[in-house]
Amino acid sequence: MTEDATILLAHGPNLSQLGRRDPTIYGTATLDDADAAARAVHPQLDRFQSEHEGELVHRLHRARDDGTSAVILNPGALTHYSYALRDAVEMLGIPVVEVHLSQTHAREPFRRHSVISPAADITITGAGILGYRLAAMACRDRLGLDAVPSA
Ligand code: DQA
Repeated sequence: MTEDATILLAHGPNLSQLGRRDPTIYGTATLDDADAAARAVHPQLDRFQSEHEGELVHRLHRARDDGTSAVILNPGALTHYSYALRDAVEMLGIPVVEVHLSQTHAREPFRRHSVISPAADITITGAGILGYRLAAMACRDRLGLDAVPSA
């Protein structure tokens, strides 16, 4: 795999509101900051965000045919109940890193279970924006690239 491998960064519902959404839990960084954190590690990044489950499912289907090499996915609340999204993740056949900004295991009981995790290769939870950087590093590692690109 080469440096021009494309990583898809997919964000689920309400992540568009980062920066103004409960900063005590999610911090003040925006979605653009999340993208930038991943891009700083792997510039060849395709970003997608949707408030709609079906659009996310469609985007993952497309990832099977558009040359995407790995996926970073924060499914938002879909994490906790979307079997449709989980099935789409399962079908991908490329590395998938699930990311959560907040430490979901220390929050309300319904957030402590992810239906996505069994289909993901790696899950990063509670590291805030740093989680996206770590996720990009994890994708690179799974793709056989240096986790941190050499300068
Ligand atoms: C989240 C955690 C989910 O429980 C929540 O619904 C989100 C964001 C996170 O990044 O911490 O929308 O995925």
